Amino acid sequence: MKHLLKMLDLSRNEILDILNLADQLKYEQKHGIPHSLLKGKTLGMIFQKASTRTRVSFEAGMYQLGGYALFLSSNDLQIGRGEPVEDTARVLSRYIDGIMIRTFEQDEVEALAEYGDIPIINGLTDFSHPCQVLADLMTVREYKNKLEGLKLCYIGDGNNMANSLIVGGLKVGMRVSVAVPGEYHPAKKVLDFANSFDCFELLADPMAAAKEADVVITDVWASMGKEGEQEKRRRDFSEYQVNKDIMEMAKPDAMVMHCLPAHRGEEITSEILESHASEIFDEAENRLHVQKAVMVKLMG
Ligand code: CP
Ligand code: NVA
Repeated sequence: MKHLLKMLDLSRNEILDILNLADQLKYEQKHGIPHSLLKGKTLGMIFQKASTRTRVSFEAGMYQLGGYALFLSSNDLQIGRGEPVEDTARVLSRYIDGIMIRTFEQDEVEALAEYGDIPIINGLTDFSHPCQVLADLMTVREYKNKLEGLKLCYIGDGNNMANSLIVGGLKVGMRVSVAVPGEYHPAKKVLDFANSFDCFELLADPMAAAKEADVVITDVWASMGKEGEQEKRRRDFSEYQVNKDIMEMAKPDAMVMHCLPAHRGEEITSEILESHASEIFDEAENRLHVQKAVMVKLMG
């Protein structure tokens, strides 16, 4: 594994290796066992979109591993004034040991990987959010002690989270059921992959999707960059809310997860979010551990 660009690139074993290392690093951190595995290494973090969890967990994680993280806002980089990503990649490769990038186009992340010669980590694009989904899988495994055979249900927009959860879930042997309103389906590349699995279903009915689910996951109706469609999306997604009725369809001990930030009263009710706060904030915490594992695998 040279980069982390999207879940489609990872094998089942690579995913499980990352989760195992993340579990170990979490244990070590909780027990005060030092793990300066990236001493002297520098990570550049390019942000073309806002972030709380991704920025802080990468920065703190790099510090805990003995390395250094540089926050690079695209407003301050020449990339924000049109310098080609191909040139940026080749220049940054001479200075630092890895790049985490959050941007719009998946192609931009793929181009960084193609032209640079340091590991590239996708910190979210419109297509994919692999770091989040690795943390999600880690959290499910912590609560359920397994992944294989569990039913993961995603309700909402067929966005970066849906794309990555479908692929990640199927690769580790979960059954995956997705409910999205018609035009908001996941990416074609993801559906082409998923449709070869008998245990994948794409539905319009969120109640049917949630039936007997072990994990119910949702995400905002309007992702970063889609704010202009907020009103239309509120109408189109009004039936796609994780609420009490949905949770009555799922197994009684079903988990609820959300990558955050959440819009209470839209994709999830406040009641459901608060009654599942334990797993949702463990999920947020696990970003730290899983990303440390990814950095160690790629930059160690
Ligand atoms: N879940 C997630 O990626 O959060 P941020 O946008 O705060 O980084
Ligand atoms: N789908 C959301 C995830 C935020 C972490 C977005 O892209 O804005």
